[in-house]
Amino acid sequence: MEETDKKPEMIVFEGMALPPFPPLKQDAKKRLEEIRNLECRKDDVILVAFPKSGTHWVWEIVCMLLKNKAEYVKEIKEFSFLESIPDIKALDDIASPRALNTHAPYRWLPKQHLENGGKIIHVVRNPKDIAVSMFFHLGNSKDRPRPTDFKTFCEMLYMGPVPPYGGWYAFEKEYEQAKEKETLAAIFTVHYESIKKNPIQEIKRLAKYLDVDVKDDVVAEIADKCSFRKLKEADATLKDYSVMTKVNPKAKEALSKMYRKGEIGDWKNHFTVAMNERFDARFKEEMKDSKIEVQFE
Ligand code: A3P
Repeated sequence: MEETDKKPEMIVFEGMALPPFPPLKQDAKKRLEEIRNLECRKDDVILVAFPKSGTHWVWEIVCMLLKNKAEYVKEIKEFSFLESIPDIKALDDIASPRALNTHAPYRWLPKQHLENGGKIIHVVRNPKDIAVSMFFHLGNSKDRPRPTDFKTFCEMLYMGPVPPYGGWYAFEKEYEQAKEKETLAAIFTVHYESIKKNPIQEIKRLAKYLDVDVKDDVVAEIADKCSFRKLKEADATLKDYSVMTKVNPKAKEALSKMYRKGEIGDWKNHFTVAMNERFDARFKEEMKDSKIEVQFE
């Protein structure tokens, strides 16, 4: 059997299907505990999002805002990605303020960050677009379980027994509950669709939350440099992938496919009417007690 034909392993931990990042593959519990017990600084910012919600995009915006400069950081998001960074101690070498990022559910966020009342930015995206984005992402990857057809994939993603990171519904409801109950850490929610439609306004809202006094021309430049086309180009030409290529020589090839289409509503090109009805029924049931706003258009 060819190396690439081998069925990739799926990591299952506490009802979550986790990507086969080396630290999770080695010992998922250990890495999640390292995250939970991470030594935090008061000015750390943690970006949380369900996979394919626009994490890379918002991370770049946040990095620029924290420097108050519309300049690309040379590092890639994976450099401060809590689940995949090969050695978690390397986070100690990042200069403050750090923009850490994770797809971990709220219960696994660093305890100390919550106790510090640290800033948490939470990105929400239409789960139908997430399904499409994830389908193509997994289809491009040689070392992850490959989806068969989109319909089967969608059923697995939203109705399967072991969904990624515990599933979109559980993930978002856990953050919603934390946001309602949390007295120390204030979770700030931003929507993929709002940033796409109104980048200036949303970048200003983010700056306010981050206590960054940013000038209008810098905001405009950040919006421009973080537009899909420019960010994709910067990612391909300016970024230092060494943190990941050290452990996987093909990491750049795989990660560059993160910038696929960058649009709102691609789900309409992939959901059939029947799939959409089934999704909507499930969504209604799952979210009946939730006030989370999801922008389907
Ligand atoms: P698509 O696959 O729909 O294109 P994540 O970073 O959480 O993995 O999310 C990836 C999704 O965000 C991909 O969605 C990607 O194209 C999109 N994305 C990345 N940068 C973007 C940008 N500047 N503007 C809009 N979408 C962006």
